[in-house]
Amino acid sequence: MLTFLPEVPSAESQNMEPALDRFFTLSLDMLGVMGSDGYFKQVNPRWEKTLDFTTQELLAQPWIELIHPKDRQLTLTQIQNLATEPDPVTFKNRCRCADGSYKWLLWNVSLDREQQLIYAVVRDQTERKRSKEALWDSEERFRCLVENVKDYAIYMLDPEGRVSSWNQGAESINGYREDEILGKSVSCLYLPEDVESGKPEKELKEAAAVGRFQDESYRIRRDGSCFWANATITALRDRNGRLRGFAKVVRDITERKLTQEALQKAYDNLERRVAERTVELVRANKRLRREIIERKQMEKELRDSEAQLRQQTQQLQQALHKLKQAQAQLVQSEKMSSLGQLVAGVAHEINNPVSFIYGNLNYAEQYFQQLLDLIELYQQYYPQPSAEIQAQIQLIDLDFVTLDLPKLLHSMKVGADRIYQIVRSLRNFSHLDRAEKQPVNIHEGIDNTLLILQSRLKPCPGHPTLEVVKEYGDLPLVDCYAGELNQVFMNILSNAIDALEESFVMGYCSSGHGKGQIRIWTEMINADWVAIHIADNGVGITEEVKQRLFDPFFTTKPVGKGTGLGLSISYKIVVEKHGGHLKCFSSPGQGTEFAIEIPLGLSSQQCCCQSLYQERVGLVEQKDRGDTERERKNLLLKSVGIP
Ligand SMILES: Nc1ncnc2c1ncn2[C@@H]1O[C@H](COP(=O)(O)OP(=O)(O)OP(=O)(O)O)[C@@H](O)[C@H]1O
Ligand SMILES: [Mg+2]
Repeated sequence: MLTFLPEVPSAESQNMEPALDRFFTLSLDMLGVMGSDGYFKQVNPRWEKTLDFTTQELLAQPWIELIHPKDRQLTLTQIQNLATEPDPVTFKNRCRCADGSYKWLLWNVSLDREQQLIYAVVRDQTERKRSKEALWDSEERFRCLVENVKDYAIYMLDPEGRVSSWNQGAESINGYREDEILGKSVSCLYLPEDVESGKPEKELKEAAAVGRFQDESYRIRRDGSCFWANATITALRDRNGRLRGFAKVVRDITERKLTQEALQKAYDNLERRVAERTVELVRANKRLRREIIERKQMEKELRDSEAQLRQQTQQLQQALHKLKQAQAQLVQSEKMSSLGQLVAGVAHEINNPVSFIYGNLNYAEQYFQQLLDLIELYQQYYPQPSAEIQAQIQLIDLDFVTLDLPKLLHSMKVGADRIYQIVRSLRNFSHLDRAEKQPVNIHEGIDNTLLILQSRLKPCPGHPTLEVVKEYGDLPLVDCYAGELNQVFMNILSNAIDALEESFVMGYCSSGHGKGQIRIWTEMINADWVAIHIADNGVGITEEVKQRLFDPFFTTKPVGKGTGLGLSISYKIVVEKHGGHLKCFSSPGQGTEFAIEIPLGLSSQQCCCQSLYQERVGLVEQKDRGDTERERKNLLLKSVGIP
């Protein structure tokens, strides 16, 4: 290669040839030798790498043709200058690459006048030029940007805090023109008191220390007016970290601050109102709670008083009920007591005349017998009486009188006996003299009651005879209020008769082949209790009526016939007074049975019983045969309790 190089005459240079050749090859710059004919005489490999032509292509064309047409003239001028310039000439131009693009090259050329050769060292500057242009572009853009920003004051300070640049925004915000402020201390933009306290210096110091400082505070304009500024100071340092100054960006935030203040005020106002309202609400809430408590209290009181009222109403109802019952009882007992008094009165009044009759009947019989005996004696001694006597004998039909008189007297005695029984029953029934519980013969009570009801049992236009069937068991004396228990028998038997009468009116009887029948049977339930059953085959009772049977004033009978008190009083007497039970078994058309169950009480221990009663009656009948009539009368009266 070096054969193209001009020959160097010195021996030293000849020794250097291989080394130069190596440098020629290694160089990062393009090295070339151009002849006066306008062609390259020699190029190093860097040309190929830079322009992408082969060495042959480069050597084969005039090098000026590689130069951009616009730069050719300048290049030729510079080459021509070589002739006059003793020093190498430096210039730039654009050189064409194999692909048609151009690269910026920096040429440093010198002329070998003797050999008429140009030596060129060429450096590719395309990249550098490009980055320079880019830098310029960006700087320009940044400058334009800064210059044209109006809402922000952007300015630079030197390390001492003097203004070194000033944009339009700074002018419009602070009021200073660029020529007025450049070189002045930034302190002129601060409030006097801030300047006094060293605020501007402190801020720069802080920014220098940490790189950045930000602040919001009042600043002063050229005309002395103030504004709220948001300022950011950034410290600028060179590559070595030396402080080159500060960039400051300031924004006028007065409006925002005012809005903020107004907002804060509004917020404070709102908060105050909320607080006031909250206080009011708390108060109202307290009031409400108090009211609720008071209301609840009132409601409770109301409920209490309601309950009290209900209780009072209930008590009143109970009292009324009791009153009604008491009234009913009073009416009934009044009724019974009147009946008892009447019965006792009648018994007493009848007792005396009957006593005369009964007492004298025996004498009468005796006297009659004596008279008859005397007549017989006369007939024996005077078989032929006078005509007048004979006529009288015929007139009175002496034979008949003689036969009939004893019968007549006997029937009179039976009648008087019956009257005695009735009187005794009546007295027993009324029991006016017994207010305490006493051992009582239940059967006696039933019989006495039946006696009083005798007239109702007899046939009448409404019905034939009502049959009474008695099946008495062997009962001891029962401790009870005889008069009141008789009242119960009376009520139940009266109801049975009513039911039978009603069944005849309706045209049927539930049993007994058309006969009205009342069945009475007694029994010992156990050692301590007796039961009296009174059943009829009358109309029976519906379930509905059964539910209300013992209610006072409940009756199904027509007005004037029933008061509806009979069973309610009977219930009271049996259940409440005697501690017993009163039960009813009935269904419509099947008749009715009432069961009275009574505890025996003390009398169960006594040996008196029904049989004693039977015995007493039997005793009367036996004595009747053997004793004189007066004795018999006294015994009978005693047995029925008449002294
Ligand atoms: N043996 C019975 N057969 C059918 N119904 C009966 C019988 N006993 C009672 N009753 C019914 O029970 C009702 C109530 O009887 P209770 O004796 O209390 O009153 P009353 O007989 O109507 O009137 P009072 O007895 O006061 O004169 C009767 O009206 C009747 O309807
Ligand atoms: Mg009745």
